[in-house]
Amino acid sequence: MIDPSSINQIVDLAHIEDVVGEYVNLKRSGSRYKGNCPFHDEKTPSFVVTPGMGIYKCFGCQKGGNVIQFVMDIENLSFTESARFLAKKYGIDLIETNIGNSDASMEQQREKESLQALNDFALSFFQDQLIQAEEGRTMALPYFRERGYTQKSIDFWKVGYSPASWTAFYNHAKSKGYSDEVLLKAGLIKQRDKDGGFYDLFRNRVIFPLVAVNGKVIGFAGRVMSKVDKAPKYVNSPETLLYKKSDFLYALSQSKSEIRKNDKVYLMEGYTDVMTLQQAGIGNVAASSGTALTPGQIRIVKRFTSNVSVIYDGDIAGMKASLRGIDLLLEQDLNVRVIPLPEGQDPDSYCKELGSEGFQEYLKHNEQNFIVFKAELLLTEASNDPLRKSEVVSDILGSLSLINDKIKREILLQELQSICDIPIQTLYTELGKIDRKNRQKDSEKNISQELSLLKQAEATINEFSDPNTEVLSDVHQERALIRMIMLHGNKPVGTEELTITEFILQELDDDANASFQLMHEPYTLILEFVKLYYSNNQCAPEAVDFAKHSNPAISKFAAEIYSTEHTLSSAFIDNLISVKTEDDNYPKELIDIFLNLRRTKIEEMILEEQKKLVDPEENDSEVLQVLDYLIILRKQIADQIGAVTARL
Ligand code: CTP
Ligand code: MN
Repeated sequence: MIDPSSINQIVDLAHIEDVVGEYVNLKRSGSRYKGNCPFHDEKTPSFVVTPGMGIYKCFGCQKGGNVIQFVMDIENLSFTESARFLAKKYGIDLIETNIGNSDASMEQQREKESLQALNDFALSFFQDQLIQAEEGRTMALPYFRERGYTQKSIDFWKVGYSPASWTAFYNHAKSKGYSDEVLLKAGLIKQRDKDGGFYDLFRNRVIFPLVAVNGKVIGFAGRVMSKVDKAPKYVNSPETLLYKKSDFLYALSQSKSEIRKNDKVYLMEGYTDVMTLQQAGIGNVAASSGTALTPGQIRIVKRFTSNVSVIYDGDIAGMKASLRGIDLLLEQDLNVRVIPLPEGQDPDSYCKELGSEGFQEYLKHNEQNFIVFKAELLLTEASNDPLRKSEVVSDILGSLSLINDKIKREILLQELQSICDIPIQTLYTELGKIDRKNRQKDSEKNISQELSLLKQAEATINEFSDPNTEVLSDVHQERALIRMIMLHGNKPVGTEELTITEFILQELDDDANASFQLMHEPYTLILEFVKLYYSNNQCAPEAVDFAKHSNPAISKFAAEIYSTEHTLSSAFIDNLISVKTEDDNYPKELIDIFLNLRRTKIEEMILEEQKKLVDPEENDSEVLQVLDYLIILRKQIADQIGAVTARL
């Protein structure tokens, strides 16, 4: 266990904004920093760092904690490992003791540590088998040599060899005390159904270790050396506690500093492609291991650069298969370029053919914008088929619509026009349509995000609110809520299956949710009427039902609501912001009303907490923590309100 005094020292010396700043582009915002969360995909920052408290928090994916937790999350390390990581970086002498406590996470931690130890052990076994053992020296080393790899490259990539025997590694590992269980969990051995016996996963293959960004070996890939047998070309480690395929990019650990330095990465498919280019002096390389790119891989790349140049193998089928993955890169605001290779070549073979300088020249002169590349590739095929051509054009415009930068878009559109020979006006119109569709999708997504934020805020309120305290309610907000039912009561809420009325009634009905009680007439009366009507008819009353209601208070209010074409959004009256209400804005407005209600509630809670600060009975640091959370929440809600306002 690490001594608590050491932990305190780390937290004091490793400033959260510095540590996070190495992974996230942080922008100052008052006494805090904001950025795009490194743990999930997002375009608008909901990741907040608070230096004063030494904490980070993402309001999108909920990850949060102190500086040690951050390193645990981002580097996929244990608590102890992250503490050591930070201690090393900040020159802190750690005091470690042997007393430890055991719980579930400690258990998983221990398992990770034993898998890691086994992988390290396997790595040196495979390396020894290549370089020291007779079999490897005669069978496998020549394989690398014939492919032109130098000893330096062999050492740099830590490649190895697994002997032909079925149990070479298994026997060796057992003799060193590794259990069957951990060997199975690491995926290094397999068990036969027939007799329960064990055998090695990697046999008679050259081995490429899979190294995570933090430098740890998390798995292996083995390649056959000859094409004679029917065995698959590559065998890969299965997913384990350490290795998650979709979050892994080959070579990043070894090439990340070159990628940062060049502010660019060459992305290819294969391990040998990466090795060859690196040996030719092109060190800013990574490989997707032959699969389509995943969001997880893109997130890691983004930590080092936003310029991605994809080098495609020179076969059309392969190129077309990869086109889709690229849209993911565009969506993440990366600058995507493409370098096609001649038919039948891959980066490895072509680099060897042209030589280091020749290949670097080739890269420089054949780099194309992705969209232009895609257009040329697909349009050549479709040139004689007008129907196919129009499909292709909308496909390309779809990619183009993912680019946010207006100027870039404009240039690309011009370029596209010259390639496909379609009037620019037609292209603009089509792109406009796609944009509108995307916006609609976005806004649906936003609404459901906002709804979940709402639920989150509500949960916090319930957690903190004292049911005995009298609840303040705001007459404007009540009015807005009722008006919402009267104008839009039977319409759906965003992508939810509920109608506006159902949503509101549910919120108000929720016993736990003591913060919502209408207190003013005529709103209480109208609500009663709506409830009764709903329970009889399963829908909200129509305008005429309100207008012709026997209670004059209700009909009078109905007249007021239904006779104004553009009324002020009541949710904003308090804020003195005048907003035109349009029919299709109602879900946003609903969200807004609830956000405002939450904000009011949170303001109250903040006041409560602040009062506690002068109370000597209270634990100040606890109060401060609650306060900090509330303040972040308030800011978050204010931002949400701001965002809604901007859209209206
Ligand atoms: N791959 C894999 N399993 C396979 C085939 C391929 O995991 N059965 C992955 C490997 O990461 C490989 C990449 O896809 O590096 C590209 O495949 P390929 O082009 O076939 O192999 P190369 O890397 O070019 O290998 P080599 O040059 O040795 O043929
Ligand atoms: Mn190859």
